[in-house]
Amino acid sequence: MTMNDETTVTFTRMDESTREEWMVIASETFSNQGRVADGLLDMLRSLSAITDGFAVDQLTHCLQTAARAEAAGADEEVIVASLLHDVGKAISVPNHPRIAAEILRPYVRPEVVSMIMAHQDFQGRHYYDHLGLDANARDQYADEEWFELAERFADEWDQTSFDPEGPIPDLAHFEPMVRRVFAQAHQI
Ligand SMILES: [Fe+2]
Repeated sequence: MTMNDETTVTFTRMDESTREEWMVIASETFSNQGRVADGLLDMLRSLSAITDGFAVDQLTHCLQTAARAEAAGADEEVIVASLLHDVGKAISVPNHPRIAAEILRPYVRPEVVSMIMAHQDFQGRHYYDHLGLDANARDQYADEEWFELAERFADEWDQTSFDPEGPIPDLAHFEPMVRRVFAQAHQI
C-alpha cells in the first residue's frame, strides 16, 4: 500500500492496511487530540439552551457546580468532572450520567468516573421522594472507596447549584483545565 503523502493513508479496507499506515494514523490522531476539549466545550455551551423547567439552564448549573468544587479545594480532575457531570444531557437526559462518565473515563482516575456515573443516585437523596423513587439509592454504594467523594459532590456542590442569582462563573475560567485534563488519554 502506498501513501498519498506523509499524513494520509490510502487503504480502502482495513485488512489491506500496513503497520506504516497505522503509525501515520496514530500520529495524526495524537496531534489532533485538542479537538476533544474543543468538542466538549462546544457541548457545554450547547447546554445553555437546555432548561427543562429548572430555574437555571444546564450550563449555568454545571458552571456553578464546578465553581463550588474549586472553592472547596478539589483537584483539577474533580473540578473538570464537576463541570462536565451533566454534559450528557446535550445528547440524552435518561442516561446522561453514563455518557459523562464514559467521556471522562480515559482521562481521570477511576473514583472520579464512579462519582459521575452514580451522581444521580446520590442526588436522589434530595428529590427522589417526590418521584416515588428510593431516596436512599446511594446506599448501594456504601462500601465503595469513592462514596465520600460522591457524597460531597452531590450534597455540597451539585444539588446546591441552581441559583439564577448567581454567581455564574465564566466558562473561559475552566477552559485551561479542560484542555489539560483532555490533553492525553491514560487508558481506554
Ligand atoms: Fe447536576
